[in-house]
Amino acid sequence: MLPDRVNIDIFEEIDSTNDECKRISIENDFHIVIAEKQTKGKGRLGKKWSSPDTGNIYMSISTEKDLSCGPISLFTGLICKKSIDKTINEEKIGLKWPNDLVLENKKIGGILVETESFNEKTRTIIGIGINLNLPKKESWWGDLSKFNITDKREILISEIVNGFISAPDNPNVEWLNEWKEACIHMNQEIEINKNGQLLKNIIFHDIDDNGNAIIKTKDGYDKFTSGEINIKGIY
Ligand code: BTN
Repeated sequence: MLPDRVNIDIFEEIDSTNDECKRISIENDFHIVIAEKQTKGKGRLGKKWSSPDTGNIYMSISTEKDLSCGPISLFTGLICKKSIDKTINEEKIGLKWPNDLVLENKKIGGILVETESFNEKTRTIIGIGINLNLPKKESWWGDLSKFNITDKREILISEIVNGFISAPDNPNVEWLNEWKEACIHMNQEIEINKNGQLLKNIIFHDIDDNGNAIIKTKDGYDKFTSGEINIKGIY
């Protein structure tokens, strides 16, 4: 069940649920757009998010409320992780910085946060893609098919929405520790791109209160506010 503070639009097909959230007028605290398929699904860092198949989750939550309850993209990753774990009844989902959802070394979901200015208001759009069941199995993408939760998709969506909309009023002060516990690469060797150069043989040391990655290199510590990390064996 979705609460009164939420308006929701559901489409059979749309270009991108994030883009639809940029076009609508928001008449409630939160406006959610869900689609069965996307023709121009967008991923982080200018990548595409392949979305031709029904049965997965393609949704965006948009709001003009103040979201100073934590770094929203990491925070949403944690909400999605907890919602999926609850739905499958097992603690299985790991987090890869900044906000990838990982099951058994494969990415099964991701989050794209965008902001847009409207008449002196800032609209935040949080796009969430979760692979429940990919018909074509590809070696680098994972899904949740082994848990048979296709018929629980609405339950999972409402877990995520309820977790998200209660956050601004009830900040989860534990989010940082919970995120670190769910992280699958803390203190492990990673690679990261810095100004077009791939840094290798470095350690993912920590995240700070703002969700930035703290990396340990042979010369000391470095901070990354965004980007993508590579970890051997994880797709
Ligand atoms: C990532 O690259 O990991 C982020 C993927 C985000 C995909 C979702 S699907 C719903 C929403 N609409 C989009 O166009 N993208 C996001």
